[in-house]
Amino acid sequence: MIETFTDLELLRERVRSWKRDGLRVAFVPTMGNLHDGHFSLVRLAREHADRVVASVFVNPTQFGPNEDFARYPRTPGADARGLEAAGCDALWLPSVEAMYPYGVEATVRVQVPDVTSTLEGASRPGHFDGVATVVSRLFNQVQPDVAVFGRKDYQQLAVVRYMVRDLAFPIAIVGADIVREANGLAMSSRNQYLSDEEREQAAQIRRCLATMAEAIAAGRPREAVESEATKRLVEAGFQPDYAVVRRPDLTEPANHETGSMVALIAARLGRTRLIDNLEFTA
Ligand code: PAJ
Repeated sequence: MIETFTDLELLRERVRSWKRDGLRVAFVPTMGNLHDGHFSLVRLAREHADRVVASVFVNPTQFGPNEDFARYPRTPGADARGLEAAGCDALWLPSVEAMYPYGVEATVRVQVPDVTSTLEGASRPGHFDGVATVVSRLFNQVQPDVAVFGRKDYQQLAVVRYMVRDLAFPIAIVGADIVREANGLAMSSRNQYLSDEEREQAAQIRRCLATMAEAIAAGRPREAVESEATKRLVEAGFQPDYAVVRRPDLTEPANHETGSMVALIAARLGRTRLIDNLEFTA
């Protein structure tokens, strides 16, 4: 049975009792409306620990003023059932008041430099401050030995790794592969906003990433590959924020550079903003 906690002291008591028994504790933070991508994180967490805690918290501080905080899908019953089926032991469900007891404005904030200045950080000002702040609070609340994050949010994983290293959190960070729909669309809670037709159209993003990776591996110059991908997305009806190729640390490779790379796309389809990426070797 999954145990649900809304009281921090009770959650901490449970985690402490596991640790007293010598058990290793893994943590999977989420914003809910869970799908197979999230559940794959729970299953991977199980491989790294004896007990798994997941959290569901739609974090207001990582949404911009014109973003979808209010309409973000909330499905608490299905989330709890799905987590239990995936082998999760405990669910941490903090209220906004429990997370930000002095109010959002008065809260201590965690700001990660460098890696947050581009891509999602540039398109969504303040987004990563909200993520780093809430993840650091969640880490201190749950006190896990290991935490699992999806590579779907490639830059978020880099931000979390930077924060953990710099603030010396004694937590191992594990990255999980992207889980996709049959048509290649990366699973996301925001896919709920798409019509059936848009879901088919959205699968173009994955195909575009593959074309970018093939072109770079074939020796085409990076800037040409990026502008062709952007053009192709516009022609397919998207409003792209970026379509780029980066080194794994998200710095810009030179034209014709070889080695490990990642192609990343963020694009809007109607009112829905989608992100995806593909790691490859050039
Ligand atoms: P959320 O979007 O709910 O995602 C929770 C975790 O699931 C993240 O680590 C994300 O990368 C992973 N995930 C989502 N879709 C995935 C997919 N298709 N395949 C693999 N992993 C996937 O990311 C957040 O919430 C928040 O920013 C959070 C870290 C919880 C802080 O509020």
